[in-house]
Amino acid sequence: MNEKLVKAFNDQIRKEIESAYLYLAMAAYFDNQTLEGFAHWMKKQAQEELNHAMKFYEHLNERGARVELQPISLLGKDWSSALEVFKQTYEHEQKVTQSINDLVQLASELKDNAALVFLNWFVNEQVEEESNAQKILTLLERIKDNFAGIMMLDRELAKRE
Ligand code: FEO
Repeated sequence: MNEKLVKAFNDQIRKEIESAYLYLAMAAYFDNQTLEGFAHWMKKQAQEELNHAMKFYEHLNERGARVELQPISLLGKDWSSALEVFKQTYEHEQKVTQSINDLVQLASELKDNAALVFLNWFVNEQVEEESNAQKILTLLERIKDNFAGIMMLDRELAKRE
């Protein structure tokens, strides 16, 4: 595997783990607000991000490339509302999509077909990731500070498998 792509995949492992860390911080915010459905949704999201990181890890490993973990940053800590949390979630997923697109571009320049096939899964996944965040954001924009609306959405989000 080309060195540039190995470096970019290792960077992506960091980004996915930073996503997990961000969503776990959001879960902690919601748990603190006793919005357990929202917290549950974020915990599931954090687990998904760790799975994404592991996919990159295994791909490097399978191709005999070295996984090199990096220090991670906490991308958010305090929010003033569920609306603010989901604004950041949606914007964050858009950044991740950009990052996946950059990887596709690089793999394509390097004519690395195995990486391209692997990345295809992430291209589709990001469509879903953005859509999930955007739907909840749209609902929150309509609900605003309406307590009954927030509680109803909390019950919905508690159902995430
Ligand atoms: Fe790993 Fe939410 O994208």
